[in-house]
Amino acid sequence: MPVPLIIDTDTAQDDCVALLAGLLDPAADLRAITMVAGNVGFAQQVRNAFLTLNVAGRLGHVPVHTGCARPLVRPWVSAENVHGDGAGGLSVDHAGYAPDPEHAVDALVRMAAEHPGELSIVAIGPLTNIAAAAAKDPGFPGNVKALYVMGGSNNGRGNITAAAEYNFYVDPEAAKAVFAAGFAVTVVPWHPLTLRDAVFGPPLLADIAAIGTPLAEFFTRVCAATLEFDRGVGIHGTTHPDSLTAAVLLHPGLVRRSGRYNVDIETAGELTRGYSAMSWGVHGLAANATVIEEVDPDGFADYIRGLLSTPTTPDRPVSGPDGPLWAG
Ligand code: BDR
Ligand code: CA
Repeated sequence: MPVPLIIDTDTAQDDCVALLAGLLDPAADLRAITMVAGNVGFAQQVRNAFLTLNVAGRLGHVPVHTGCARPLVRPWVSAENVHGDGAGGLSVDHAGYAPDPEHAVDALVRMAAEHPGELSIVAIGPLTNIAAAAAKDPGFPGNVKALYVMGGSNNGRGNITAAAEYNFYVDPEAAKAVFAAGFAVTVVPWHPLTLRDAVFGPPLLADIAAIGTPLAEFFTRVCAATLEFDRGVGIHGTTHPDSLTAAVLLHPGLVRRSGRYNVDIETAGELTRGYSAMSWGVHGLAANATVIEEVDPDGFADYIRGLLSTPTTPDRPVSGPDGPLWAG
């Protein structure tokens, strides 16, 4: 049976790939896309989500709900220096396909309550919507079957600061609340997991570019800005933490090792805002999350390559910096 899920996303670069997993993997039954403030400007993120639906040939198949347009208590922090517009300069006229009028937080609460214990959530942006939904309905964490979170580092390096990964840094109060709320949480961290097992280097990127489908070209273009940024910070390829998070929910066989941890987020530190303390058994704290420690990197790469090989017909032509694409 396909996994019923919602993807909560700050759609740019790898978030788009995670959406493709939800839209096209037969193991997934994507019920909604909920949007949260993160990577790039909020309106651009919404455009990127519709662009992704369009390239998958799925405009109108899945509702898009806009959610919290800023973190709970702090100003928004952009990652446009990493992702550009998050879409490689591509755009589509999605007139006639507007976001659903229901706020993302209301949609999350409602859909989880309608199917208690059935829906999983893949949260691949700051945790603002998820924390707000738990505050709005204390029954929400118990109604969600599994919450898969991309965020933090397992006592390792951050990416926006030495201590913090971007999603937890942007809204540390939300992340802290989520780990205290009683969800069945699984975490896909940035370091060491993503940097070891989910970086696509030049040979794999060349293989993908040669696939020749609209999805493979979309991937190459959407990931170009991040690839350039990564080169400058010593990462030899594109990073795929968000699509890995969707992949391990849909295909748990990709996971080679995981551990139970007590995860808590620093909100008060002078240098450590958003740091994720992942305490293992010796610290005497009750575990509140499963942290993925190792995945099968080749299996994950094959999974994404397979996804991007799916032949799709984009619903509408896409505009690119060098002219129209897939104009039929
Ligand atoms: C996370 O931050 C964002 O820039 C990516 O989309 C990913 O969710 C990695 O730190
Ligand atoms: Ca993201």
